[in-house]
Amino acid sequence: MFNLPDDEILPLSKEHVFWTWSAQAKVNPIAVKKAKGVYFWDIDDKKYLDFNSMTMCVNIGHGNEKVIKAMQEQAAELPYAAPGMTTKVRALASKAVAEITPNKALSKVLFTLGGADANENAIKLARGYTKKHKILTRYRSYHGASAGAMAATGDPRRVAWEPNLMSGVVHFLDPYRYRSTFHRTNPNISEEDFTRDYLNHLEEIILYEGPDSIAAILIETVTGTNGIIIPPSGYMQGVRQLCDKYNILMICDEVMSGFGRTGKMFAIEHWNVIPDMLTMAKGLTSAYAPLGAVALKPEIASAFDEHAFESGLTYTSHPISLAAAIANIEVMKEEKIVEHASKMGNVLRRMLTDLGEAHPSIGEVRNIGLFGIIEVVKNRETKEPMAPWNSSSPEMNALKKYCADHGLFLYTHWHTILIIPPLIITEEELKEGMDILDRALEITDKAVK
Ligand SMILES: Cc1ncc(COP(=O)(O)O)c(C=O)c1O
Repeated sequence: MFNLPDDEILPLSKEHVFWTWSAQAKVNPIAVKKAKGVYFWDIDDKKYLDFNSMTMCVNIGHGNEKVIKAMQEQAAELPYAAPGMTTKVRALASKAVAEITPNKALSKVLFTLGGADANENAIKLARGYTKKHKILTRYRSYHGASAGAMAATGDPRRVAWEPNLMSGVVHFLDPYRYRSTFHRTNPNISEEDFTRDYLNHLEEIILYEGPDSIAAILIETVTGTNGIIIPPSGYMQGVRQLCDKYNILMICDEVMSGFGRTGKMFAIEHWNVIPDMLTMAKGLTSAYAPLGAVALKPEIASAFDEHAFESGLTYTSHPISLAAAIANIEVMKEEKIVEHASKMGNVLRRMLTDLGEAHPSIGEVRNIGLFGIIEVVKNRETKEPMAPWNSSSPEMNALKKYCADHGLFLYTHWHTILIIPPLIITEEELKEGMDILDRALEITDKAVK
């Protein structure tokens, strides 16, 4: 459709593109040309196995024809309608999302353009509904790059922009067992006591901050980039109880953990908890088109029955994105993708465990469904990470380069390797990637003290 020789894509991009999350002079992007299933190809026809679902978002895999066709037909029929109007796809997509929320309890849906503005809107809704101001979030979290979502973010991406962010966010600690601050001298503490310590910590912060000033607790149900931190048993129920006790809303950010990633449609279903709001994006359309959403309880929505919710987006409920979402959810159901992710999660667990036993530079492996992580360490006893906090290291860079050179696309975060493939991946494809990783880890093994 558009004419540009392949060998001009990179130079032209380097001339005109301003890159995010990157030092402009240091970017070296893959010029990607096509993608299908769990693979994509660059302009030199080099094939990559996608172990990160691009940006942890292509949940149903690349090149799904049903979703593409739905978008094409919607583009031909009606590519856009104003936010105050409604369309067939707006009616159907909001119903489709409401019906997959836990117990179908979050029956109102506000569509956004992505994850950050889903969280921003959830915060606004919480503040408007409770008439309270503060938002509690965790240190090991990422909630998006706009000013409010960045303020909510706990990780160093927030620190880079301080102090000019949204006020009123207070952070607390994540129940991160492998590197638990409270249990360095007592690492074998029972799961029950571990959970209790972290809930006590949260309750203490609620009391210090004043429950009457706290609108919501916003948490990634399973922490994504910052460590695939799987809540210990009882933790999510405990957060729910604290929210109820102190009249605080519970918002689960499932931008990364939602849409089958953990082997359930939403991760919170693992703990039978119903949050007051749930934010989503990425897997909502499997990234075929930009879309985010806040699903909320009807009683929160009705607090705005008589006065306006003073917020909006020109592209809310964009029909092409909604067509993608409806088709994507249908594909997930028809092809039993969530069930498959759960099954493949067990396969991934076995493979990760084997890898952990084989490599001295692996400190711990964790996964829930197809949401996996390897903690790469210099020393298993001290747990010294293979790269420092918020940084990289020659060993981690070399490991990543080895994988890329051998056609495995994955995401490393400081000293960790994330394994987040499209949910349609087969056992053979998983093994193909894990075999490359197995050889790559020999690089970090050499740095073990
Ligand atoms: C948990 C979580 N929340 C929010 C976001 C922000 O989403 P977006 O980049 O679509 O704004 C992300 C993105 O990675 C995320 O992982």
